[in-house]
Amino acid sequence: MQIHIETSPIETVSVDALAVICFETEEKKEGERQAPAAADPAIAEQSGWLADLRASGEFTGKLYETATLHRPKGVAARRLVVAGGGKREKFSSVEVRRLAGTLVRSLKGKGVRSVALLLDTPNGDEYVAPAVEGAILGAWEPDTYKTDSKKNENQVEAFNVAVPGVAAQALQAAAERGRIVGEAQNFARNLINEPANKLTPEELANRAKSMAKEAGLESEVLDQRALAELGMGALLGVAQGSSNPPVFIVLRYRPAGYQGKDHLAFVGKGVTFDTGGVSIKPSDGMEKMKYDMSGAAAAIGAMQAIARLKPPIPVTAYVPAVENMVSGNAQRPGDIVTTLAGKTVEVLNTDAEGRLILADAITYANRNGATHIVDAATLTGAITVALGHYNVGAFTNNEEFLERFLKVAKAAGEKTWQMPMDEEYKEYLKSAFADLPNIGGRYAGSITAAWFLREFADPTPWVHLDIAGTAWIDDGKSWLSKGPTGVAVRSFVELALDWNRIPGLAD
Ligand code: BES
Ligand code: MN
Ligand code: ZN
Repeated sequence: MQIHIETSPIETVSVDALAVICFETEEKKEGERQAPAAADPAIAEQSGWLADLRASGEFTGKLYETATLHRPKGVAARRLVVAGGGKREKFSSVEVRRLAGTLVRSLKGKGVRSVALLLDTPNGDEYVAPAVEGAILGAWEPDTYKTDSKKNENQVEAFNVAVPGVAAQALQAAAERGRIVGEAQNFARNLINEPANKLTPEELANRAKSMAKEAGLESEVLDQRALAELGMGALLGVAQGSSNPPVFIVLRYRPAGYQGKDHLAFVGKGVTFDTGGVSIKPSDGMEKMKYDMSGAAAAIGAMQAIARLKPPIPVTAYVPAVENMVSGNAQRPGDIVTTLAGKTVEVLNTDAEGRLILADAITYANRNGATHIVDAATLTGAITVALGHYNVGAFTNNEEFLERFLKVAKAAGEKTWQMPMDEEYKEYLKSAFADLPNIGGRYAGSITAAWFLREFADPTPWVHLDIAGTAWIDDGKSWLSKGPTGVAVRSFVELALDWNRIPGLAD
C-alpha cells in the first residue's frame, strides 16, 4: 500500500474516497454550542445530506460506523465517506487506528483504489502513525493460499493522510514509522498464518534469515547438534517427537557506535505446531495450534521494524523453534530433562511445552548479555479464561520494568494487564523427583507458568507476555480480519524506540 501525506486543500484532492470523521452529536447542554458534525468546509457543503443521514438513523456517528455519498458537492473526491468517531471525548489513537482499518476494509471490493483520511481533530498530527498502521493492518488478509487470481484486484492501493495546518515534512516521519510498524506486524501475521506443513522450525529460520539479510540484521541459526552441545535438554525433549528438527534463531541489532551497557532481549515461543504431544489435545480446534509460534513471529517481526527505525539500544531476538508432536520418539509424561541452566524438570504434561523451550531460551539470553528480557508466548489457555481476548497478560520479576513496559504498550495501543506474581503461587510448583515440575496443578495456570519461567529469568529484569488469548481472533472485526493479530510487535518496537526516554532504564 502506498502511503502519502496530503498537503493540497482537501476539496482539491482527487481520490476515489475522501473520509472524514464525524462524532456522535453530543447532548446540547445549557449555554453550549452544539459541536458541528465535522469542522471542515469540505463537508459543510453536504450539511443537508449529513442532516438527513443523521435524522434517518442511517449514520449516527457511532464508532466505526460508515456511510458513503457518491459525487459529493464541492470536492474533487469521487466519494465522501463519513466515518463514525464515537464519543468525541473518548477518541484517541486507538480509535484512529481501528477507524483507518475499518475504512480500508469497508471499501474493499467497491472500486476504491485511493483513500484520503482527513484528520481535522485536535492532535491530528499524533494520529498520523496510528492511522497509517491501521490502514496497513486493515488491508491484510489471510489469503496466502487462496488461488483466486482476482484476490488482489479492487483493493485500496493508496492511503493518504491529511492534517490541515501542519506542514507535510513534520508528518512524514510519523507516516514512515507507521508504515514500517504496520508492515512488520503484517510480516508477523503472515508467518503465523502459515500452516505447519509449510512452516517447519527450519522454514521459520529461513524466513527470519532472509528478512534479516534484507533489513540489515545479523542472524545466526543453531541446529539440533549445536543445541545438544550447549545442553538445551528442555528444548530438545519437546522437539524429539517430531521428524522436523528444532532450531534456535538469533537476530541481532546494534546501534552504530553504541557505548552503553543496556541490552534488550526479545524471546518468542516458536512452537510451529502444538499437538500437545503424548498428553494430546482434543482434535476439535487443534488446527489453530499453528499459531503457537505467535510469540516468535512477534519477536522476528519487531526486529524488522527495529532494523529500519534504528532505536538507541542493542536488541537481540531469541527464538526457540520446535514442533510438539506425538511419535515413538516423543517425550513421555514423567520424563525428567536437564535444562541449559542445570535445573532438572519433571515433565508431568507434555502439553506444557512452551515453558520448557522458553526456559532454555531465557537462560541463553541471560548468558549472552541481556540486561532486560521480554518474552512473548501463546503459553496458556488459562490466560484466556482470566482476561478473554482483549488483554495481554503481563508478568514480571521487576515492578519498575513492567511499569515502563505497560506505558509503551499503552502508547502502542496494545491493551496489557498485569497479573500477580506473589511468592505463594510458587508453592503450586513442586516436584517429588526433580527440581521443578512443568505444570502447577489446577489453579492459576498462567501464573504458575510465569513462575516456572521466572526461575530461569531471575535476577535479570524480565517481563513475560502471555498472548494466548490475543494473538488470534476467531471472528473478524470491522478493522481486522479473522486470524492472526500480530500482537506484541508494536509494544516490542515501542519499547526499543523509547528506551532513552525511559528514565531509570537508560544508562
Ligand atoms: N499452546 C498452548 C496454549 C493454548 C492452549 C493456547 C489453548 C490456546 C488455547 C500451550 O502449549 C498449552 O498447551 N498449555 C496448556 C498447559 C497445561 C497443560 C498446564 C494449557 O493451557 O492447556
Ligand atoms: Mn501445549
Ligand atoms: Zn503450546
